[in-house]
Amino acid sequence: MKIVNVCSEAYPYVKTGGLGDVTYSLSKQLAKDNEVAIFLPLYSTIKNKLSDPKLVGNVDVHLSWRHEQCNVFYEKNNGINFYFIENRHYFEREGIYGFDDDGERFALFTQAVVKAMEAIKLVPDIIHIHDWQVGMLPALIKENKLEFYKNTKFVLTIHNSAFLGYLDKDALGNLYNLPTDIFYNGNVKLFDRVSTLRAAIHYCDKIVAVSPTNRNELLNNESSNGLDGPLRMREFDFTGILNGIDVDGFNPKTDKYITSNYDSSSIKNKIENKKLLCKKLGLSNENAPTFGVVTRVTWQKGMDLIFGSIALLVSRGANVVILGSGEQRYEAMMNELHSRFPTQVAVYIGYNDELAHLIYAGSDFFLMPSLFEPCGLGQMIAQRYGALPLVRRVGGLKDSVIGFDGTNLSSANGIAFDFYSLEAMHGTINYALDIFYEKKKEFNRLVINALMTDHSWQKSAQEYEMLYKSIINI
Ligand code: GLC
Repeated sequence: MKIVNVCSEAYPYVKTGGLGDVTYSLSKQLAKDNEVAIFLPLYSTIKNKLSDPKLVGNVDVHLSWRHEQCNVFYEKNNGINFYFIENRHYFEREGIYGFDDDGERFALFTQAVVKAMEAIKLVPDIIHIHDWQVGMLPALIKENKLEFYKNTKFVLTIHNSAFLGYLDKDALGNLYNLPTDIFYNGNVKLFDRVSTLRAAIHYCDKIVAVSPTNRNELLNNESSNGLDGPLRMREFDFTGILNGIDVDGFNPKTDKYITSNYDSSSIKNKIENKKLLCKKLGLSNENAPTFGVVTRVTWQKGMDLIFGSIALLVSRGANVVILGSGEQRYEAMMNELHSRFPTQVAVYIGYNDELAHLIYAGSDFFLMPSLFEPCGLGQMIAQRYGALPLVRRVGGLKDSVIGFDGTNLSSANGIAFDFYSLEAMHGTINYALDIFYEKKKEFNRLVINALMTDHSWQKSAQEYEMLYKSIINI
């Protein structure tokens, strides 16, 4: 099969969160038996990461009153064909999201991709789009009845339904050269505006949520951001497939970023990583239970519960290490907590691959009490490194972590609670610490269970492959 992914981020070129990991690692797995491509905007941050880009095409995109030229560059990486759409005005900026004209920037990208595949004669069996940024792509092709794509089918994965891609209805004409009929007939309309994600739900052949639990949440009015109605209309084409992680990139047995490699048979080596982590970050007690956090620092991730639990953790003798960046108020809190408890709380604002790996390897627990979490990757990476995830049972956290409840020692691989409240979080932390301090045998068994959990892409990629095969005509 020829599979083309269109998205706004993909590791190793550009990644702000799980989306970038998933587009890459899913493609890497599928590329073993298929021809797989990924289209990305050529952000300025990507330019110095390209190793041998070739100019393979040039397309002219029409945005209301003007034309924009885009070059198309290509290079192969890990078996995946990467194509980059270059447009200086829209993509050569500091950062990748958060501009007033994001809607326009990704409209240009979406239109350019549709033209680029034709220009380079890449006829896909499947176009797999991800999230709101490229949600109008199937509408563009289907509404314009483009002959070139007559055998192509479309799959949407919803990674994060909090971002709906809202536009004014005039944008249909201004940015996409599409008629407003598709607004009035409801195809692209959500709460009286255009939503590019809602459009993708209408025009794609199949829709995927990134975990089975998240699928159910999205069909439920309370947690769907308004998408439950449109999704219910497509219920039979809507499935949930749990993401995997890149088990080669995250492997404690071979990881070059950690000081002492280990697997389930050499788990005692893990302690050396905790020692190094503490030494590097100035944490005074290297035997203390250590709680790691690696995250986008945003409301979605349960930061209020984490920050509201620091005093408790410190009072019970634990270390806390937080790495991430995001909302300013939370970054300020990170700094403040570090100055209050300098020998027990360490923070790193920004992203640092090397330190992230050491946190996973050096932590006993990994905090992820998300408010909502379509899938979540941090908890799976933590399990792979034998750091017990302490999570709220929501979305993919519920599908990937079996919380220890005192009776399920043979299967539990983390600690979990239900209600989004400080009370529940504190109770769970106390429970986790009691196990750490007083029930060493149980604790060690849970760590082994976590380490042995299989989160490789193999199974999930196979589910995607079956989904693709169910809609193409070969
Ligand atoms: C988004 C979601 C996260 C998911 C990731 C990859 O970042 O918030 O839960 O794991 O996408 O699908």
